[in-house]
Amino acid sequence: MTDLLIKPEEAGAPGKTGAETGADRYRLRQLALKSIEIIKAGQAPGGAIVACPNFTVYRYCWLRDGSFCAHALALTGSKEEAAAFHRWVGRVLENHREKAEAVLRRHKQAEKLTDGDFLNTRYTLEGLEEAPHADGEEWWNFQLDGYGTWLWALGEYLTRHPDAALRQELAGPVELTVQYLSAFWKLPNFDCWEENRHDIHPATLAAIYGGLRAAARLYPESAICAAGNRQASALATFVKKAGIYNGSLVKSLGRSDVDASLLGAFEPYNLFPLRGQVARSTLARIENELVAQDGGVYRYRKDVYFGGGEWLLLTGWLGWYYVRSGQRDKARACLKWMVKQAGDDGQLPEQVSHFLLAPEHLPVWETRWGKSAMPLLWSHAMYLILYIALYGEDNI
Ligand code: BGC
Repeated sequence: MTDLLIKPEEAGAPGKTGAETGADRYRLRQLALKSIEIIKAGQAPGGAIVACPNFTVYRYCWLRDGSFCAHALALTGSKEEAAAFHRWVGRVLENHREKAEAVLRRHKQAEKLTDGDFLNTRYTLEGLEEAPHADGEEWWNFQLDGYGTWLWALGEYLTRHPDAALRQELAGPVELTVQYLSAFWKLPNFDCWEENRHDIHPATLAAIYGGLRAAARLYPESAICAAGNRQASALATFVKKAGIYNGSLVKSLGRSDVDASLLGAFEPYNLFPLRGQVARSTLARIENELVAQDGGVYRYRKDVYFGGGEWLLLTGWLGWYYVRSGQRDKARACLKWMVKQAGDDGQLPEQVSHFLLAPEHLPVWETRWGKSAMPLLWSHAMYLILYIALYGEDNI
């Protein structure tokens, strides 16, 4: 995809942009088209979207990754495919209803629960929980943010493409999800990087907040969704009280460091106003502590996963925030940085290793799981979301 690459001098760090030429726009659009193709190719006949087709441990559908991919498809004219994903999630939830209702009941009775009692963060493309692994390795499945992300993405979809039948079809799964998130948001669970099981993460809470609010808007007649909306308000109060340190949101309660996934608290989940004080302080920390010298974004300073590289999806997310807060030049620089990372075939990786935070850890992960994931469909989704935010749906 060399022909899609922009010239290095045109792609500075956020804030430093060269003038945009027609050729740049052409290249940016080519990668957008390629991204749609890659996400569609990763969608199984039943609607599930794989995280990465050729990285063994990512050959599953995560609600988190899949929801962003479905959102990107909905924005770029692939309405049917997006709806198929939402229907697939609806079926997965119905098929696991008994499990969800059991954990809700047992929680109410104050029974002791284990991680395996909760819904999984990812499923096989057929919608099943994965079989136990031969090596005994278990996935870090107790994560709540993906369920919030799904409700948010469904809300976006149905607002953009009203569809009474789909809304009706998904009412049951949505209410089940709302009950589940309303009951469990206060529990520590793995963060969106599948780490820190025993902490509570404002970024996870933000996704839950965005999801509960979206469900209440979608189903104003539902008492369950109205109750979920009240939980969302309680959650917001809780984060304001416990999730802020020196004016900025923190990675986990009780810590003082920052994590780039906190961008979600502003865009798209709107837990805090986009241009408010909390957003400004948190963004200042993300820009100072988590943007590498070439403009790519780290997850958090102590990251060691595959050496702790710059993440494509986070750079797209930062750009998305910039567009929404009126900083378009910085947003364009993020998009251009993403294009520079594409392989010759237009594939975007999960992360790049130009400026690793912990290089000594790279070989450890490569020995364990092979080369880092590529293409990562969530990276392509964030590219598309940023592209559309900048150039509009008519430019695809
Ligand atoms: C990331 C998750 C992601 C998963 C699949 C993990 O390494 O930490 O956020 O959902 O990969 O892409």
